[in-house]
Amino acid sequence: MESLRWREGILEILDQTRLPLTIEYVQSSDYLAVANAIKSMQVRGAPAIGSAAAFGYAMGAREHQNLPREQFLAEMQEVKQVLASTRPTAVNLFWALDRMEKKLLEVSHLQPAEIADILLEEAKAIHQEDLELNRRMGEYGQQLIPSGARILTHCNAGALATAGFGTALGVIRAAHAAGKQVQVYADETRPLLQGARLTAFELMQDGIPVTLITDNMAGYLMRRGMVDLVIVGADRITANGDVANKIGTYGLAVLAKENKIPFYVAAPYSTVDLTLASGDDIPIEERDPREITHICGQRIAPEGVKVFNPAFDITPNYLIDAIITEKGIIRKPYKVNLQKTYGEGAK
Ligand code: MRU
Repeated sequence: MESLRWREGILEILDQTRLPLTIEYVQSSDYLAVANAIKSMQVRGAPAIGSAAAFGYAMGAREHQNLPREQFLAEMQEVKQVLASTRPTAVNLFWALDRMEKKLLEVSHLQPAEIADILLEEAKAIHQEDLELNRRMGEYGQQLIPSGARILTHCNAGALATAGFGTALGVIRAAHAAGKQVQVYADETRPLLQGARLTAFELMQDGIPVTLITDNMAGYLMRRGMVDLVIVGADRITANGDVANKIGTYGLAVLAKENKIPFYVAAPYSTVDLTLASGDDIPIEERDPREITHICGQRIAPEGVKVFNPAFDITPNYLIDAIITEKGIIRKPYKVNLQKTYGEGAK
């Protein structure tokens, strides 16, 4: 199942708010529709929102391609701004938009219609590349997974969160494909239940054994010796190796340390943000209180209750045993090793 697909001038987005009960692609024919799909989380997961934003940018170019060049270029700044204001935490979104803008500037001497064609090819390249990165990450990461491993994961870092295969779930898929007898515990992941709705669904479709638990059960399982390792995805990794990921990840990392269980993060280079020194600098998205006060449109909390709904948290680098990337497995000290892998002059 693909999170996104480009079909004859239309971006088809698998509506993840309705999974697993309804499998439906919504059709976006303009960039504002793509921006809304990202905001409403019909498409979600750091790499997938990067791809969606790239397609949105290309669609914005097509919408404005009949304008004179100067006006076209001015409109493209607005397109970028609208797409960039959808979700603040996952850096993949900004990385993809910056890459699209760089391409635009490279070819800005051409006619807008030609530029729009080139931008569409760039969006397709971003999407295709993500799939390849995930497969490579899977190959490296599966080396950390012993046969028989019982693996805990949080949120959804799978095919649905990416162009395909997944980051954390890609590593699990690769281990399974290598013949290792893995079993997964999927945290349900309140408030939007990406673990229950998406991870459990994806793994079941692939025939990988999965057991669903609620978020507050993880510590109990770990203390009872039922978990061999934890693996999660990331929305942003800063220069010192701090990781922003779905709210609840930090708690799992603390529990893993307390119980001497390895804690791994899997993410491609588009998730690494060397411009930020530490996780304290990452903007954390706060979402609609209704995500907490309601379940499936039904109110469950008292009318008028105060709500705090941060969508992500920061796991400090010292709680992370390794970061699995498409370039290999990165270990501490992250500040040095991330710089070596992705900094200026890195190959
Ligand atoms: O709010 P979401 O569902 O977009 O959050 C997604 C996550 O936190 C994922 O773990 C992360 O994006 C990694 S996806 C490969």
